[in-house]
Amino acid sequence: MKTEEQKLISEITKNQQSGKVSIAKLRTDDRVLARITDGIYRQPASALRELISNAYDADATNVIIQTDAPRFRHITVRDDGNGMDVAALARLIHHIGGSVKRRVEGATLGITGKRDPSLSPKGRRLIGKIGIGLFSVSQLTRHFQIVTKVKGNPYRLIAEVILRTYTEDTPRNMTGSKPGAGDVVETGTVRIISAPADDASAHGTEVILMDLRPQARDVLQSKEMWDLIDSGAIGIGGEKLYVRHPSYHIGQVDGSTDKVTRKPSLPWHDEDEPEVRFRSLYQSLIDEINTTEQNPRLETALDNYLRTLWTLSLSAPVDYIECHPFDLAKSPEIDLYLLKPRIRGQAKPLALSASEKVREKLGLHAPERGPSRIPFCVLIDDVQLLRSIRFFASAIPGWRIT
Ligand SMILES: Nc1ncnc2c1ncn2[C@@H]1O[C@H](COP(=O)(O)OP(=O)(O)OP(=O)(O)O)[C@@H](O)[C@H]1O
Ligand SMILES: [Mg+2]
Repeated sequence: MKTEEQKLISEITKNQQSGKVSIAKLRTDDRVLARITDGIYRQPASALRELISNAYDADATNVIIQTDAPRFRHITVRDDGNGMDVAALARLIHHIGGSVKRRVEGATLGITGKRDPSLSPKGRRLIGKIGIGLFSVSQLTRHFQIVTKVKGNPYRLIAEVILRTYTEDTPRNMTGSKPGAGDVVETGTVRIISAPADDASAHGTEVILMDLRPQARDVLQSKEMWDLIDSGAIGIGGEKLYVRHPSYHIGQVDGSTDKVTRKPSLPWHDEDEPEVRFRSLYQSLIDEINTTEQNPRLETALDNYLRTLWTLSLSAPVDYIECHPFDLAKSPEIDLYLLKPRIRGQAKPLALSASEKVREKLGLHAPERGPSRIPFCVLIDDVQLLRSIRFFASAIPGWRIT
């Protein structure tokens, strides 16, 4: 007997000529659903991080994200990675929570390397392992599209996903009976069509998040912070509280008319190149440390949008802003310590000679990009993410009341 997945593959393939829509139901294990709707994905940066990781795992060189800032009505994440064929897409639809990354089946689907399933086809060390990351976008929207194409195919696949609104009283399992661990929950519907592609050699995936949830837009627009600032000092329980105006922000739009009501104040200039823009953001944080406060906080320097960029830059496997940590050399500004896992005790200072780097001293090599070392560049609204070795306090988005 054919599995649901095999049936879907045959249907999509059959419908390819006629352009007819194939429809699939999304079903999720109750426990998996709980993980997806869990707080760990609540911040917009978490869902974007998952999409960036997927692009990385798919051997992409470039990821281009557009957030529609400062309105944030929709977000697109486009990569030039390996894309998904019909079988990979059907697998994704019917196995939420069952990633093939790190499994031998991954190679047949073009998702993992042929020799080592823990690597991507081009040899990157895979980030994904559970099979839920993509669905973390449910924190941002119930409606999204995946447009994907593999090299050589004369068509691309378009999957439109509509997630069900999940409430505590919705019957959570197929029979409508009381939910229990391991129940299968219907979480949404996917409509798939194949569309002819002009360029058969093109490849990649685009995830389009449509109609962003009002809560997600409010977070990205720092609505709560502006509301508090605009209302002046407020008292809660007799205590005077106030929120500081952030040094840099994306501006503000009117909720109903979408007109700009507060001009952005950004650390870069409009004409700056993507890399310069990020370096300016970085410099603005360094300046904040050096000038404004003894103990600067991201919350007072940046609004939620800029903090989202900063948080993402710390977790995306992009190039380092200064240098790779293994390439650090002796410097009066840096103290290096050696911490050995599994050995208790204090970290020991690491002494380097004048021309030595950490990499040479400890015989380290960073395998993350694999032997092919294909570059990985992420642009968000024309800002190129770069990783910093310096970590600024409290990367968790959320303003602070001082
Ligand atoms: N940008 C992409 N390009 C190609 N394939 C993708 C892309 N995004 C998702 N996929 C496919 O969809 C599958 C599911 O993605 P998802 O992020 O949900 O899980 P995962 O990456 O396997 O594991 P994790 O939950 O740890 O992220 C992936 O295994 C991959 O096959
Ligand atoms: Mg993933």
